[in-house]
Amino acid sequence: MALNDEIRIGVIGAGNIGNVHILGLLETPGVTVAAVADVFLPLAEARAKEHQISKVYGNGEDLIHDPDIDAVVIAVSNEWHAPLAVKALQAGKHVLLEKPMAIDVKAAKEIVLAERESGKVLMISHQRRWEPLNMQVKELVQRGKLGNIYHAKTGWLRRKGIPGWGTWFTQMSKSGGGPLIDIGVHMLDLSLSLMGNPRPVSVFGATYSEFGPKRRGIGSWGKPNWSGSYDVEDLATALIKMDNGSTLTLDVSWAALTETDNQPYIHLLGTEGGATLRGSTYGKLFAEMFDKEIDVELQLPEQQTDPRLLMNMHFLECIRTGSEPLTSVMSGYTNNLILNAIYESSRTGKEVELDWDLSN
Ligand SMILES: NC(=O)c1ccc[n+]([C@@H]2O[C@H](COP(=O)([O-])OP(=O)(O)OC[C@H]3O[C@@H](n4cnc5c(N)ncnc54)[C@H](O)[C@@H]3O)[C@@H](O)[C@H]2O)c1
Repeated sequence: MALNDEIRIGVIGAGNIGNVHILGLLETPGVTVAAVADVFLPLAEARAKEHQISKVYGNGEDLIHDPDIDAVVIAVSNEWHAPLAVKALQAGKHVLLEKPMAIDVKAAKEIVLAERESGKVLMISHQRRWEPLNMQVKELVQRGKLGNIYHAKTGWLRRKGIPGWGTWFTQMSKSGGGPLIDIGVHMLDLSLSLMGNPRPVSVFGATYSEFGPKRRGIGSWGKPNWSGSYDVEDLATALIKMDNGSTLTLDVSWAALTETDNQPYIHLLGTEGGATLRGSTYGKLFAEMFDKEIDVELQLPEQQTDPRLLMNMHFLECIRTGSEPLTSVMSGYTNNLILNAIYESSRTGKEVELDWDLSN
């Protein structure tokens, strides 16, 4: 593909985040949103009408087999991520896939193998990587300014934040889990990247479900379905050990009785410097010189570019140049391995060693 060729994208899933993708792609130079698909056809039709998208499909497979489409965005419930991503790669399409990469490790492996066979780009939609303060800290880490990052603490504690109670979000067979796989995966992804991508080796974790089953802790994302069910966790905690000796702790909740500003956070502890990031707008660096504490508040750039636009531009660049995305298929697989191990550790009460063998 030539560097300035227009890329024709089809969006599969016309729900909440599918619409966010459509809006973002419409603002992305070099892209045409050529089609939209949803198993709930009236929703796809409404999005097409609203955004003047010429083709509408009642399922993802028909869109995938449209020869006029170069790439797809997959923004459907988690259980369909792997089936659709594998089919899209096999049909020769590039894929921007919503997080979590897959519902479990088995499905994640299928995506990794399909990506390797296809030679196409598969990128995970972790837009937080492109937030300005996160990028500033990443650059400092890459320049060695924090020294050796030996420990990090991350989390996202919501007091009342259960999305779409009773819908696919709160059913294990459709989502793969609760806040851990929903918001924890963002923080895992970002923390590992900011720590310099050490290889995780083992996990100890626990999950709890104290509020969801009692219909408490309901949030504002997604419409509840009171005839549905709730069988996922509402809080998870974990300690992840890396092959370089560093550690990461993770705490996430959709519902918890605690003091929280409902913002995601990361604390990076390095031998030369530390960094704290909270939400999208607060960041601080910590160091010591001449026995004095030095704290530096990070500044947002005056001209800000929407992180989703930067993510889309990165996707296009990877398609055009054949380079590996920052949020690569293996980063998605790593996240799935850790999530799986946290659930397993919670079930067994034991530390779980990560099995990296893709042939198992
Ligand atoms: N990156 C982020 O910050 C972010 C934020 C929210 C949601 N998400 C992810 O986006 C995905 C969708 O979440 P949502 O909140 O938009 O959910 P949603 O329920 O609002 O929308 C999902 C849509 O997909 C459709 N769908 C389901 N299976 C399908 C299939 N096989 N083929 C075609 N359409 C299908 C449904 O009819 C629905 O309209 C999830 O994986 C979620 O984890 C990511």
